[in-house]
Amino acid sequence: MSAAGAVFGDLRPDFPLLAASPKLVYLDSAATSQKPRVVLDAIREFYETANANPHRGAYKLSGAATDAYHGARATIAKFLGASDTDTLIFTRGTTESLNLLASAWGHSHVHRGDRIVVTRLEHHANFVPWQQLARAVGAEFRICELNEVGQVDLGQLRALVTANTKVVAFGHVSNALGTVNDVREIVKIAHAVGAVAFCDGAQGAPHLRVGFDALGVDAYAFSGHKMLGPMGIGGVIVRRKLLDAMPPYQFGGDMIEFVFDGDTTWNTLPYKFEAGTPNVEGAVGLAAAVRYLDGLGMDAVRAHEVELSRYALARLGEIDGIVVHGPVTAEERSGVVSFSLGDIHPHDLSTMLDVDGVCVRAGHHCAQPLMRALKVTATVRASFYVYNTTADIDALAASLRKAKERFGAHVG
Ligand code: ALA
Repeated sequence: MSAAGAVFGDLRPDFPLLAASPKLVYLDSAATSQKPRVVLDAIREFYETANANPHRGAYKLSGAATDAYHGARATIAKFLGASDTDTLIFTRGTTESLNLLASAWGHSHVHRGDRIVVTRLEHHANFVPWQQLARAVGAEFRICELNEVGQVDLGQLRALVTANTKVVAFGHVSNALGTVNDVREIVKIAHAVGAVAFCDGAQGAPHLRVGFDALGVDAYAFSGHKMLGPMGIGGVIVRRKLLDAMPPYQFGGDMIEFVFDGDTTWNTLPYKFEAGTPNVEGAVGLAAAVRYLDGLGMDAVRAHEVELSRYALARLGEIDGIVVHGPVTAEERSGVVSFSLGDIHPHDLSTMLDVDGVCVRAGHHCAQPLMRALKVTATVRASFYVYNTTADIDALAASLRKAKERFGAHVG
């Protein structure tokens, strides 16, 4: 470990918000990451040099905006390991991507009597759209349970994924527990019965090398703001044959070929799924973010987070009364540590930590079905990213000890 801790040295100078607040201990990157200066610069540069509506003007400036937008798509597709660039559809983020799949693919492919399978780990964004699709079409909605350390029970999944299963929807990494799923094995289980495997990569793409082509999933959804990019941009990569077999998700400008009085034909990919003026600043900002991550190297990003998780598990383990939820080892989780401390309510605890400048998330993490299985209403979650160091974790541990003393936590 370096002096600053883990694999990277101190990257805070690259992040204007962190550089301006040296005492801030930001441990909520699973909610949203901080942004490096290169992302802010790329957005500014786009507006200062290439701002126009892409695809719409015959003039050079519109061409520059079009180039910026599609150049960003190519950069992001390459980063995520997708060779078919035009199958990366930009959306507002993972939530919209998953709704697109459930709505456009789901309503045209899932029928009464079919089965949809999700896991107990899912974020509401990868649970409710499928639950509601099942209710709307009369399909069966089944939930695969977890083992005692918050990992998908693959034996149960094999039994649940029957011949009438049309889709298996699962997360790459749990936002609430940090569990890293065995994507290839889940894909194998889905494909064995001819079901599609849709992956929520909101917490995967920022932290792990994705390699879409090799991963085997039929769709992979992601959010820019969790991977150093701006809010309001994300996307979904979908196998071309599925996109060709799906109706559009929204109607409007850019996604049409011909509009007749009685009918309309659709534009080619990716335009068919991108109605309206696109979020060019978001795409350009996200492209700058993935170039920054590429510069660090995704294997190094992963190694950095494993080191931080290992350190956090050790330091938190020294505090009597802390119960850490989820996988036992750092290698089995992403940079997320979710915990409870005695009988202190997670919201009270996070408010106390905030007094010391420590930002963590407390709550159900948009995973109420999971919280019910854990028999808690909420947890405190510390989540790490490239700019965190062991000093941040020391600050968290010190603040937790103070809070425990102050509340006189009952840990029995
Ligand atoms: N889904 C985000 C989180 O886990 C907001 O915090």
